[in-house]
Amino acid sequence: MREMMEKLREASIRAVSEAADVDSLEALRVKYLGKKGELTAILRQMGGLSAEERPVMGQLANKLRADIEQAIDSRKTALSSAVMEMKLAAETVDVTMPAADIRLGHKHPMYNVLDQIKDIFIGMGFKIVDGPEVELADYNFTKLNIEDSHPSREWTDTFYFKDDSSILLRTQTSPMQIHAMETSELPIRMIAPGRVYRKDEVDATHSPMFHQIEGMVIDKGITMADLKATLNLVVEKIYGEGTVTRFRPHHFPFTEPSAELDIQCHKCGGKGCPTCKGEGWIEVLGCGMVHPKVLAGCGIDPDEYSGWAFGMGLERLAMGEYKIADLRLIFENDERFLEQF
Ligand code: DAH
Repeated sequence: MREMMEKLREASIRAVSEAADVDSLEALRVKYLGKKGELTAILRQMGGLSAEERPVMGQLANKLRADIEQAIDSRKTALSSAVMEMKLAAETVDVTMPAADIRLGHKHPMYNVLDQIKDIFIGMGFKIVDGPEVELADYNFTKLNIEDSHPSREWTDTFYFKDDSSILLRTQTSPMQIHAMETSELPIRMIAPGRVYRKDEVDATHSPMFHQIEGMVIDKGITMADLKATLNLVVEKIYGEGTVTRFRPHHFPFTEPSAELDIQCHKCGGKGCPTCKGEGWIEVLGCGMVHPKVLAGCGIDPDEYSGWAFGMGLERLAMGEYKIADLRLIFENDERFLEQF
């Protein structure tokens, strides 16, 4: 009997130490220690023992049971900590791994130029205003003193929404002058940047959509001297101190007198070069004194108030500032181009 118990000890301890998981440990517990288990089977034979042997064998059996139980428990602990370790290894987040690359964009070069312009005008007390791109022909043309026969009203030049030519995509930001005069209290100092639309074929200098910045001042006693002084200051802020300007007489229906503002070419100093196309001068904007008819049409008494206005192309300005040769680059959003700014 002693021998049987020794064999059982050997076999059970080995089996327990080799058990691969908690379930098979439970099966071993039943196999060796259960009611119908192997130890119980051995103990059944106690009846055949002498009175002296019985307690000795009883003690040995108890010790064996305790040892097998302890072996099962310690194997169980070992198995569950191995499981935990595996889980931890599989689920750890390596905080030292480099993070996924997030590519940050940046402001479009044209908007850098726009922000610069806005800063300059805000510094002089101007408001920035915004208005509709879908506009009434009344505001885009009529209230700006643009006559019915003016070529810019043609269907070949302007995007209309209706057969009666009453609603269109604005062809200039100048209707913002009318909106400002009709809705603001006097005096007015405002700039209005935004998109404008014309039926132009796309090429290196044309696009059916582009941006303008309109500007206007209305107050008592405003003269051409205010216009020249203010715009000269703006030009110096954009192109550098001492930039030479000239106001060249021109015609716009909504200003009288009207002018175009040129700057002397900063590349060649006025001698003529590829940048200024041999002219020595670069056209920057259109401007003039707000026409008395336009003032009156907006309910402002031209005998009491006067004002000046200007309109400039934003793309052209950005192209000059960043030496961009082709207008299409501004709209194509090719990253190889945009990354350079
Ligand atoms: N709206 C004109 C254009 O698109 C530009 C312009 C000229 C605006 C003179 C003005 C101005 O405000 O006074 O060609």
